[in-house]
Amino acid sequence: MNKASDVFKIKNRNGVVVTFIARGGQVIGIEVPDRDGQVDDVVIGYQSVEDALAGDGYFGAICGRYANRIVEGKFDLNGETIQLDCNNDKNHLHGGVDGFNNRVWEVKPNQEKRFSESYKLALVSPDGDQKYPGELKIEVVYGLTEENEFVIEYNAVSSKDTIINLTSHAYFNLEGAGKGTVEGHELEMNASKYTPISGVIGTVTGDIADVKGTAMDFVDTKTIGEAIASDDAQVALVDGIDHNFVIDGYDGNLRLAARLNDPVSGREMEVFTDQPGIQIYTGSHFDGTETGKLGSPIVKWAGVAMETQIFPDSPNKEHFPNAVLKAGETYNHTCVYKFI
Ligand code: GAL
Repeated sequence: MNKASDVFKIKNRNGVVVTFIARGGQVIGIEVPDRDGQVDDVVIGYQSVEDALAGDGYFGAICGRYANRIVEGKFDLNGETIQLDCNNDKNHLHGGVDGFNNRVWEVKPNQEKRFSESYKLALVSPDGDQKYPGELKIEVVYGLTEENEFVIEYNAVSSKDTIINLTSHAYFNLEGAGKGTVEGHELEMNASKYTPISGVIGTVTGDIADVKGTAMDFVDTKTIGEAIASDDAQVALVDGIDHNFVIDGYDGNLRLAARLNDPVSGREMEVFTDQPGIQIYTGSHFDGTETGKLGSPIVKWAGVAMETQIFPDSPNKEHFPNAVLKAGETYNHTCVYKFI
């Protein structure tokens, strides 16, 4: 059995180091050299493992069983209405009060040649966990390649029909965590549509809207700051971006979803996924009261989360991708964060 505070590192020969802990599989650091070889930690978080355990439990964590929001925590499955526990106003967020981010995962070294180093994380979520049906057995591989790809592979099998949407919740700041905000970061998205939200609590309306002519248009690269500074009503609702984007050309194969670039350090990150959506969240709720890396306050817009996923509230939206995992079938999801 692992302890919550057990620390693991995966490294490659280029100086990239991913550090995570057993609790939540929380990625507490990713060290990446910049264009001059200077190494910085590019995920926001705390200065110690103790602070990470006591602080925001979503930082860098594996979220589930259903990441993102389910309106009023309710959905129908096989003719039965299931009421999940609600932990985000009257909605269910990131798997509930005791989500997978809060569990101690079983971590074992993984010997796969395609990775420089890798680990396998395992968790069993009992039948009825947070009111979800079925015992769910989850395995997640964290692997790092010599091409600077941090690969996250999820698979899961349930004993009964259930719903599932796992994701990883690191907030990136490619200049270096603690060095400022991501307003100057340039973002390009392979997404000509997104799912608008209906209010400050951020639940989706069910619409699939064109990004063209809105602040959400990152089809051509622009800075995150430009979107935040716009008077777009969707931005105003959440004081930034907290939206799911619909990945163009989704066909279940790995494809480029987004590219993030920091002109100051020259670091760039590409995000690949086989999922239909990606939630972009610019961390509007950080208020500077917590101390983060480099001893700096964790301020609003200090980092951007890029969470590959099925769309929010899919179990209640028939025209959204299917989030049902049938008993005995395998859920697969790959997300790759590639540092350039
Ligand atoms: C994000 C979500 C935000 C916020 C955050 C957790 O995935 O979109 O609204 O809840 O998680 O603090």
